[in-house]
Amino acid sequence: MSCCGISHAYVIFGATGNLAANKLLPALYQLHCMGHMAEDVEILGCGRTPFTQETWQIEVRKQFVESGIAEDASLDSFIQRLDYLSGSLKEAAFYQSLGDWIGNDGECANNVVFYLSVSPELYVTVTEGLAAAQLLEESHGWRRMVIEKPFGHDLESARELQHSLSDQLKEEQIYRIDHYVGKEAVQNLLVLRFANLILEPLWNRYHIDHIQITHAETVGVDGRASYYDNSGGAVRDMIQSHLLQVMALLAMEPPVSMEAEALRNEKVKVLQSIRPVNLEQLATHAIRGQYAAGEVKGVAVPGYLQEEGVAAGSHTESYAAMKLYIDNWRWKDVPFYLRTGKRLQERRSMVAVRFKQPPMQLFQGSGIYQPHPNWLLIGIQPEDAVRMEISAKVPGLEMHTRQIVMDASVSTPGERKAEAYEELLLDVIKGDRSLFLRYDEVKAAWTVVDPVMQRWSEDEQLPLQYPAGGWGPKAAEKIFGDSDRAWRHSLSCNGKGSE
Ligand code: BG6
Repeated sequence: MSCCGISHAYVIFGATGNLAANKLLPALYQLHCMGHMAEDVEILGCGRTPFTQETWQIEVRKQFVESGIAEDASLDSFIQRLDYLSGSLKEAAFYQSLGDWIGNDGECANNVVFYLSVSPELYVTVTEGLAAAQLLEESHGWRRMVIEKPFGHDLESARELQHSLSDQLKEEQIYRIDHYVGKEAVQNLLVLRFANLILEPLWNRYHIDHIQITHAETVGVDGRASYYDNSGGAVRDMIQSHLLQVMALLAMEPPVSMEAEALRNEKVKVLQSIRPVNLEQLATHAIRGQYAAGEVKGVAVPGYLQEEGVAAGSHTESYAAMKLYIDNWRWKDVPFYLRTGKRLQERRSMVAVRFKQPPMQLFQGSGIYQPHPNWLLIGIQPEDAVRMEISAKVPGLEMHTRQIVMDASVSTPGERKAEAYEELLLDVIKGDRSLFLRYDEVKAAWTVVDPVMQRWSEDEQLPLQYPAGGWGPKAAEKIFGDSDRAWRHSLSCNGKGSE
């Protein structure tokens, strides 16, 4: 057995919230089904809702059945692992009861994962509560704390949070999770780059024209307005964390090994080398938008400002695009365009790498109307695909050319893709922190986005409005200046949107 033989307990703070219901519990269920959990592993849900063990078990079963997870023997045995402790995370009595639960559970609970799936304002409260009850001490087993993003809401608050956490926890106990890094297709970026040699000679400023990283969603704030409108916005919610991580994986140098510190050392170097965004010309370097009412996949949807829980006249952006440069030997002057938005036309996350044109257009007079650059397209979701667009001769007597696609599907039919949280929850048990963020990475990422957010917060104008169901504000094209670049919206040759 691998780590599945390790006895431990998962303690989930915020067990009745969206994240626990939609991601954490389903991921733990999969680990249970795949035999990655020792027999005595228990999962304790903590929250204010006054469930008992029995009523929580009923509730989770109901959620699983509604979301299509089959009701079978494995579900029965999984449900048996669940226990519940209700109480206020702000009161010492709660941590005493938690201590009793842990203490009474014998060997299994000597190793405990505390998962903070609560509002970020509670991170320090919970950590201090656990510390005061001596539940973070590792005298009889390990104690690990998983911290969801956002880690702070800007550079200053991230620094304060880090300071407070490190008063109570050793760095080895802290797992700053970024679920995007756990996605199969995102991990595949490392494999593509470092298990093959063919890309490496081309992977630099001499051959690459620019790189686009897109995360597009069709959903709106999705019942999370109170978080999104106050502490989110597209830059904080997606770019500061997920998209900058993807950028770091694309741009980093080969690590000396796949060991956590080696990997994180290389990522942080990229983040620290990002050139400060040009605030004097912000409109062509960072663009923000907010969805107006429209139609997504044929369904009429309200605008951001009409969503329940969004403050009247809110300036929170639901779309953001940024042009970033990495000032290092490999990438100097190659633009990286990052964009993300809610209520866009399609749910799609992808990386598009455009290569430079050949030095001479030898086929210009023979039927090529417009030279097509080569593209490497990497689909993250919904499809995880790798495609290369190249020019080839059209069969026939004339020397006409067209674009063809070399398509490498990453998964074969029938192969199960692991959900990001499955991998990451397992890594916590193994003590493998390579896919978790180190504080210096988080800090470097805030350093990149903070000045932009600060400048936007001083702007009295609403973000650019874009109709729901489109591809964001028209002005997002301004980010390309007068170059011949344009956003790629799809992985297919014919579905390039504006190109
Ligand atoms: C979360 C953001 O971190 O990532 C959400 O808070 C976003 O707003 C989500 O929708 C996107 O990730 P995924 O894996 O659901 O595509």
